[in-house]
Parts: sequence; C-alpha cells; structure tokens
Amino acid sequence: MSVATMTLFHSPASPFVRKVLVLLHETGQTDRVALKTINLTPVNPVAELNEGNPAGKIPALRLADGTVLFDSRVIVEYLDDQHVGNPLIPREGPARWRRLTLAALGDAIMDAAVLTRYETFLRPEEKRWDAWVEAQLDKVRRGLAHLEQEHVAELSSVFDVAAIGVACALGYLDFRMPEFGWRERQPKLAAWYAQVNQRASMKATDPALT
Ligand code: BEZ
Repeated sequence: MSVATMTLFHSPASPFVRKVLVLLHETGQTDRVALKTINLTPVNPVAELNEGNPAGKIPALRLADGTVLFDSRVIVEYLDDQHVGNPLIPREGPARWRRLTLAALGDAIMDAAVLTRYETFLRPEEKRWDAWVEAQLDKVRRGLAHLEQEHVAELSSVFDVAAIGVACALGYLDFRMPEFGWRERQPKLAAWYAQVNQRASMKATDPALT
C-alpha cells in the first residue's frame, strides 16, 4: 500500500470524474490519490478548487509538488503514464488516434447529458429553453447511434480509455436520465455495457452507490 501523494478534486456524480476513478482502479493506483469532494454547480464556484484551476474544473488533480492538472483528458493521460501495466491509451500509431477519438465521443455524450441535467434540474423552470435541451439530447442520440452502428466490436476488444469513456457516459445516462431508454435503440451497445458494468472498477465507482 502506497501513501497518497496526489489529491483528486471530485464529485461522485460527475461522469468525467468517474473516468479518472475507473482508470485508477484499472491501473492499481487508487492508493496514490486522496479524494477531496467538491459540491459544485455552475453557479456555485468553490474558492479552493479555483487555485491553479481558474475555470474551476472537476476533476482536477493536485500533484505532490502543487501542480494542478485539469481536465479529465489530461488527468487520464497523466495517470496512464504513471503505471507499469499495459497502457490504457495506445502510445502511438493509428490506434492512439482511433481510441482517443472514441473516448472523445464518450466525452461529447457526457457533455450533452450534463448540460441537459443542468438545464432541466438547476435552471428555474420559467427560464428553461426546450429547443436547446432537445438539441443536446439529439447529440446524445446521434452519438449512441454511431457507437451502435460502427464501434461495438472495437469497444469490446479492450477496456481502455475509449471503453472507459463510453461506459462512464452510459452510466451517467442511467444515473441521471433513467427514462431515456437508450437500450431499446442500441441493443448491441447495451449488451456490451451490461458486461463491462460488472467490472470491479465500474462497481466501485457507481454514482448511485457512492
Ligand atoms: C451531476 O450531479 O449530475 C453532476 C455533478 C458534477 C458534474 C457533472 C454532473
């Protein structure tokens, strides 16, 4: 057991945070990071989080020398560089760009889902913009349809940065938008997710249980 030398500013509900936590579990690095929970919304900035992180992003990772890394993509890449097992981001070649692009699609689905959550949950009802929400949901639908049509075999090949990103995006949809009903439209993706969701890293980071 090693001593935690880094601090992860996190919110258990954030799918972007979850990607980092899943990677820590998958690479055996959980002991190296202390968790600092931040209750953050876009209209509730937290002064401590903003030190070295002016946009107040979570996740943010404070290293032993005080350097603060953000956002989740940078943190994931940093932590993947810090372990001796198989890299979860291919280091070079076409596979690197393919897997990172797939991971970016997972992030785009998360972005649209989180923005939908903010608009429907945080914003006062009289100020809500239905067409904007619908446009975000369309991004989610298009992203999921593309994954179903093109990428399930690739996702199934290895539980790496791409698979972690997509799994965390699907987990967030289930957590915050259980009525969205994506499984009926994407049965292959649903079967893949049912499998990877059994991994210890996914169970340990389930936002409904943490
Ligand atoms: C949420 O509560 O859904 C949430 C919290 C932090 C970041 C993103 C989403």
